[in-house]
Amino acid sequence: SSPLRLGIAGLGTVGAGVIRLLRVNAELLSARAGRKLEVVAVSARDRTRDRGIDVSTLRWHDNPQDLVSDPDVDVVVELIGGSEGPARALVEKALAAGKPVVTANKALLAVHGSALAKLSADNNAPLLFEAAVAGGIPAIKTVREGLAADKLLHVGGILNGTCNYILTVMRETGKDFDLVLKDAQDLGYAEADPSTDIDGIDAAHKLTILAGLAFGRPVAFDSVQVEGIRQIGAIDFAFARTLGYRIKLLGLARLTDAGLQARVAPCLLPHNAPIALVDGVFNAVVAEGEFVGRIMLEGRGAGAGPTACAVTADLIDIARGHTIPVWGVQASAEPALRACPAGTG
Ligand code: HSE
Repeated sequence: SSPLRLGIAGLGTVGAGVIRLLRVNAELLSARAGRKLEVVAVSARDRTRDRGIDVSTLRWHDNPQDLVSDPDVDVVVELIGGSEGPARALVEKALAAGKPVVTANKALLAVHGSALAKLSADNNAPLLFEAAVAGGIPAIKTVREGLAADKLLHVGGILNGTCNYILTVMRETGKDFDLVLKDAQDLGYAEADPSTDIDGIDAAHKLTILAGLAFGRPVAFDSVQVEGIRQIGAIDFAFARTLGYRIKLLGLARLTDAGLQARVAPCLLPHNAPIALVDGVFNAVVAEGEFVGRIMLEGRGAGAGPTACAVTADLIDIARGHTIPVWGVQASAEPALRACPAGTG
């Protein structure tokens, strides 16, 4: 059968990682997808940058939106990032044109997921985003498909690798926040603007998406309560240790009689609880359902390899024709679910 032809927008860590994975695992991917996955065109700012992969044979579009009008592109892969600007314009244009989209963009899905779900449904254009939450952990598929039969009580976890790394190193070494943040940036896990990580916004984007999947309806991002880790210092680790706790930045969403509670905040966890043992850049995704009980998945939430795996799993789904509505249910005109204010429910 004919290859699935890809147009990739954004050739940063993740974009280059996807091209590398597609090349290294080409044979295995063709077998699993039932057809070849072939990159035909790319769009990125800098043509000459050394990305460790050869992109010289690929068609180059200066404007990412030209990937949509390129007749040789079957699927648009959006790896630019950001909830507005070129990423949003590209995804909207592709869906409106009926082209499937695979994206790793958590901010875009968290802020515009409701409208994008409708655009995807109206134009019969799949929109897949496994890489948007917790990188290499199959969080989206687990919550939306794996747990589809159960009524979920809560969902969330350790959703930001940069914060978890900073908290882990501060606890282990007593080093200052600023110094450890610098290490995390050097490791390449932090967002372009690291305040998105340390102020809890990145975790809130991911929690918004997970909650939407768990409760079958988009969640309003601006109703999620968010607190980051800037204010945590050596004294907090000292007290936590004395009391037998560890400090983790957790995102948790639960449906109560009073409504949805969705919150990102630093939490004290008993030092031997499984989630308290998830250290460094690792993420954890937790959920609890009435029938399934509790589950926890641990893995790398960022970086080229893990994120490329998630993007490519979505490409395999599209190649096989296995796609699913954005929130696991048909898009409806229902307004996004708002979380109730702090202290209620
Ligand atoms: N900045 C994010 C993190 C990258 O540290 O987890 C993955 O979304």
